[in-house]
Amino acid sequence: MVPEAPTPEPEPRGPQLPDPALRDPALPDPALVVLVGASGSGKSTWAASRFRAAEVVSSDTLRGLVGSGPHDLDASTDAFALLEHIVQARLGRTLTTVVDTLGSDAARRRRWLDLARRAGLPAVVVVLDTPASVCRSRNAARERAVPARVLTSQLASVTGTVAALADEGWDAVHHVRPAADATPPPAPARTSPPAPPRAESTPWADAPAPRGLRGVVLQLSRFPADDDLLPWVTRMAGAAEAAGLAGLALMDHLVQIPQVGRAWDPIPEPWVTLGALAAVTTRLQLGTLVTPVTFRAPGITAKAAATLSALSGGRCFVGVGAGWWDREHAAYGLGFPGARERLDALEAGIETMRALWAPGTKPYAGRLVSLPETTCYPRPVGSMPVLVGGSGERTLRIAATLGDGCNVPSGEGGLARLDRYLELVREHGRDPGEVHATVLDLPVVGRDRDDAWARVERHRGRTPAAAFAARHHAGTPAEHRERLARLVGRGVTTAFVAPVGLATPEDVLALAPLATAFG
Ligand code: CTP
Ligand code: MG
Repeated sequence: MVPEAPTPEPEPRGPQLPDPALRDPALPDPALVVLVGASGSGKSTWAASRFRAAEVVSSDTLRGLVGSGPHDLDASTDAFALLEHIVQARLGRTLTTVVDTLGSDAARRRRWLDLARRAGLPAVVVVLDTPASVCRSRNAARERAVPARVLTSQLASVTGTVAALADEGWDAVHHVRPAADATPPPAPARTSPPAPPRAESTPWADAPAPRGLRGVVLQLSRFPADDDLLPWVTRMAGAAEAAGLAGLALMDHLVQIPQVGRAWDPIPEPWVTLGALAAVTTRLQLGTLVTPVTFRAPGITAKAAATLSALSGGRCFVGVGAGWWDREHAAYGLGFPGARERLDALEAGIETMRALWAPGTKPYAGRLVSLPETTCYPRPVGSMPVLVGGSGERTLRIAATLGDGCNVPSGEGGLARLDRYLELVREHGRDPGEVHATVLDLPVVGRDRDDAWARVERHRGRTPAAAFAARHHAGTPAEHRERLARLVGRGVTTAFVAPVGLATPEDVLALAPLATAFG
């Protein structure tokens, strides 16, 4: 692979941030990242600015552990033995590993690359292309400077290494010229959730028009176990509005599901809870993801949703599905017929709801359902999007023919089903631009890389950390924004986001960068 040519430095015009592409090449993650650069080129500084301390394996640090300090050259043999051991152990667990040495030993590079290949990890080199004069002056300013002739020979060996890299088989060779000032830009100020409006009058009367379901919708699935449910959901919804999210969705389950918590963890009835949220929000779309058709007669769901729409000024959507968890049905005395019958009921249920929401009170005689009258007041305000959850072929067909959208998992398997959904939409002569192609996304969101990995450790249970991090795309809000923005190219209009371990309004505010992922 041909190394990228280093970009010439811009004319200095007062204090400037470096070109972000130079400062921050897009790197695969997890990956092996091998640094190359002379002393003082800024390898350790660069690594510390974008990786967790545990991800960086530094020969200097290891000299400090097994010797008298980072510059104890007598400890080199022991330090490098440890370094090889750590690199092998981390790559074997498919954990990101940044090797911080001069990078000039070809045999070592070959070994690390082999280890990465065996682990199935991408492997890249980052060359710190700092001008020799800068390395020299930084070196001179150090408490324990490298002798000048040693630095000169290092600089020459880096040049030789860079030439050799092209034929070694790395996935990429990036050249980085770090900023003189490596201080990260200040974090954007956090806003606190606003005080909730009080429903003495219609609270959204003066609010900007809601933007519909396009964007990121927060899904709440886990609730605090004490008695502060209303203040908690109010604060979470207020934070979702402050973060600019498009909506808030609640799961519809009678017993907390094992994927989220324990059976005795609270899971409030969603339509009642959404009614409370209608009174304390002004812009969020509110709905379920998803209501099983087996829980309530569809007419009753239609009634609840029409009422929520009236209470919220037309901010209601309805997620529906065929239901899947036999245990909660049995526990609440509900029937749980076979899959075919449940899907029949789903089809008929959507038809019933639409008939009841349509203008007037006239009798309805449809394909699957007949009703002697369709008297449903209050009437819903504006549109009432029906999203069908599930990715089976018949479910997608129902979504494409009777629904206004689908909801599938955000992983590659789910996206393949979304492709199929959009194909069915077209087959049925509908405009893909008018449907909601939605995904359910369960990210681990951390303030920074350290926080993201602390959350992985907290929630991974017995799943290996690397697998858990990959499954949940552990990363910062900016990284999640980029990932979601890429889904637009797959036709996704909306992501229902249920962050792993979401617990506080601050966790919700941290999602603000995601709000614009869909434009
Ligand atoms: N430095 C700086 N601005 C940068 C990068 C580094 O002022 N953009 C300073 C660091 O604070 C440090 C010196 O330059 O005092 C060397 O940086 P370092 O990251 O330690 O360089 P390394 O390449 O890791 O040097 P060595 O091989 O000696 O570990
Ligand atoms: Mg260093």
